[in-house]
Amino acid sequence: MCPKVLIRMNVIWRNYFSRLRIRKVPHRYQSSYHPVAPLGSRILTDPAKVFEHNMWDHMQWSKEEEAAARKKVEENSAVRVLLEEQDSKEHRKGPLKTELFPGSNATFRILEVGCGAGNSVFPILNTLQNAPEFFLYCCDFASGAVELVKSHASYRAAQCCAFVHDVCDDGLPYPFPDGILDVILLVFVLSSIHPDRMQGVVNRLSKLLKPGGMLLFRDYGRYDKTQLRFKRGHCLSENFYVRGDGTRAYFFTKGEVHDMFCKAGLNEKQNLVDRRLQVNRKKKVKMHRVWVQGKFQKPLPFTQKSSKLVFSLFSHG
Ligand SMILES: C[S@@+](CC[C@H](N)C(=O)[O-])C[C@H]1O[C@@H](n2cnc3c(N)ncnc32)[C@H](O)[C@@H]1O
Repeated sequence: MCPKVLIRMNVIWRNYFSRLRIRKVPHRYQSSYHPVAPLGSRILTDPAKVFEHNMWDHMQWSKEEEAAARKKVEENSAVRVLLEEQDSKEHRKGPLKTELFPGSNATFRILEVGCGAGNSVFPILNTLQNAPEFFLYCCDFASGAVELVKSHASYRAAQCCAFVHDVCDDGLPYPFPDGILDVILLVFVLSSIHPDRMQGVVNRLSKLLKPGGMLLFRDYGRYDKTQLRFKRGHCLSENFYVRGDGTRAYFFTKGEVHDMFCKAGLNEKQNLVDRRLQVNRKKKVKMHRVWVQGKFQKPLPFTQKSSKLVFSLFSHG
C-alpha cells in the first residue's frame, strides 16, 4: 500500500476531527464545513479576552461549573418520556469472503456509519482518487441522505458504495462480508441510538473489522451545552433526550465509551474528552462544548505487516 496515501488518510482524519461541531450540530445531515484553529491550539489564559474568539480549547471546568451542569441535568431529567421497548431481529450475514462484492478487489476498506449527506465521504473520496486499492462504504438509515450521496458529482461507484442501512437492525446484511474492514467511522451517530441498543450496534460493527482494523469514534460528551439546553419533558432516560424533531441524543462519559468498545472486543488506543469554550461574541454568551473521541482497535495477530501500518496510520494525535 502506498505510504503517501496512508499519510493523506491520517491528515484527513486529523483535519476531520479538528473541524467538527463548531456551530450548532444540525440534527439530521451535516452540510458544510466550519474552519477552526487546529484542536488544542487556542487556550484561554486571560478571562478578560474570552470574547475575542468563538472557541477556546482544553477548557478546565471549575467545581461550580460542574455542579451547575449536574443541577441543570437533574432538572431537565426530572420528567421522563415513556418509551416502548424495541425488538431485535436475528443477524443475517452478507456475502462470504470468497464471493465478489462491492470493494472485493480493494485491500483497504473504510466504512462510514451514518454518513448523512457525505461531509466525510467526499473529502475521503477526493483524497483516494489515485489509490484504487482503497474502497469506501457509507451507509445511513435515511434513504434521502444516501440518495444525496449517490447523486453527488464526486460520487464514484468504482470506489464507493453508499447503501441504506439501519445499524440497529442486526437482521440486515451488509453488502460485504464480516472481518474485512480496515476502518470504521462512527461520528455523531451512536448518540442518536437508544442506550439499550448501543452495545449491540458496537458488537456488530466490531465483527465487520479485520484484525488490526480501527474504529474511530466521536460524539457528544456529558454536560455538553446541547444537553444543558434541553427543557423539561424531553428526557427519555438518564442522559438521553428527544428533540422536537424526534431525533435523539445521548451524552457519553469517557468511561461508558471505554466499557462499550472494550466489551465488543476492541482495544482502546485513544479515549479523550475534548472540552472547548464556544463563544457568541455578539451576544456575549459562553457555552461549554464537550465531546468524547476515541480510537479502538480489533486485536492484532502479531506479525501482520498491514495491521502495523493501520496502527501507525491512526496512532498520531
Ligand atoms: C448528526 S448526523 C452525523 C452525520 C455524519 N456522521 C457527520 O458527522 O457529519 C447523524 C447521522 O446518523 C444517521 N443515523 C442515525 N441513526 C442511524 C441508524 N440507526 N442507522 C444508520 N444511520 C443512522 C442519521 O440519519 C444522520 O444522517
